[in-house]
Amino acid sequence: MTSVNVIIDTDPGVDDFLAIALALNSPELVIEAFTTTGGNAALRHTNANMLRILEALNRPNLPVYRGAQRPLVGSFGDAEDVHGVGGLPISLPRSSIRTRDEHAVNYMAQRLNNGPPVTLIALGPTTNVARLFRDHPGSVKSVERVVIMGGALDVPGNVTDYAEFNVWSDPEATALVFNSDVPVTMVGSDVCNQVRTYADKTPVPINPVIRRLTQAQYAARPGRRITLYDPVTVMAVARPSIVKLERLNIAVDTSDGPERGRTRRHPAGATIDVATGVDIEAAIGLFTGRVIQGRF
Ligand code: BDR
Ligand code: CA
Repeated sequence: MTSVNVIIDTDPGVDDFLAIALALNSPELVIEAFTTTGGNAALRHTNANMLRILEALNRPNLPVYRGAQRPLVGSFGDAEDVHGVGGLPISLPRSSIRTRDEHAVNYMAQRLNNGPPVTLIALGPTTNVARLFRDHPGSVKSVERVVIMGGALDVPGNVTDYAEFNVWSDPEATALVFNSDVPVTMVGSDVCNQVRTYADKTPVPINPVIRRLTQAQYAARPGRRITLYDPVTVMAVARPSIVKLERLNIAVDTSDGPERGRTRRHPAGATIDVATGVDIEAAIGLFTGRVIQGRF
């Protein structure tokens, strides 16, 4: 088995929590650090959630670096209506883990300048990655690949009719990342919408915190289901055969109009790999084995 060194950039978030759990139980991944961004909730919440998740899942030694408080332009909205006030539908005990002193972007730049190539997995707005590429262009050559959860091509957006939440949160950042020289993989709503767990079809998670989290989310969401956006994105790295990729030219709408944050095919768009298919059964199987039945 070949392993992939990864830095996971995240805004926990219910499905971020589940993706982090999946990554922690994925032997294919060497997790070097977590970096945090505002997104699902303000940065102070998402960063605190990150620390609490690592404590709850018994991995207190993995480093956490605090990142973007605001997008490249303007300020973040949030998705507390989906994830709960503060980004999670349950409260977790305050963590004894501390965030590292360095800013996430500086950490990534230094790490990339002083080590083997790394894959960046971005599970929230792509602001930290964009700032890395913009402010530290020399370090970019050591980025193996950027895999982002974001975008909606042939399905409606989940925050506006056109835009998916992560891209909508910072379209300028996504456009900058897509147009960089680094290979980009976009895992968007087209495939993620197909991978859902349902309260009445999913076994009860073994881990008590994951059990509480999923039960609270099922109770709060219409259809008593959870869409596994961020976990599918982690799977695209840990188990690449789960998604089908197509090389497409994609443009990001950075206008102030109604299509802001839209990702669409365009001949002048950036050439990136886009997940256009997913093996739903394999994805649910991997999630069930590693998260629902996983031990932490
Ligand atoms: C994405 O937005 C967030 O609310 C989720 O965590 C996921 O990363 C889905 O649009
Ligand atoms: Ca997320």
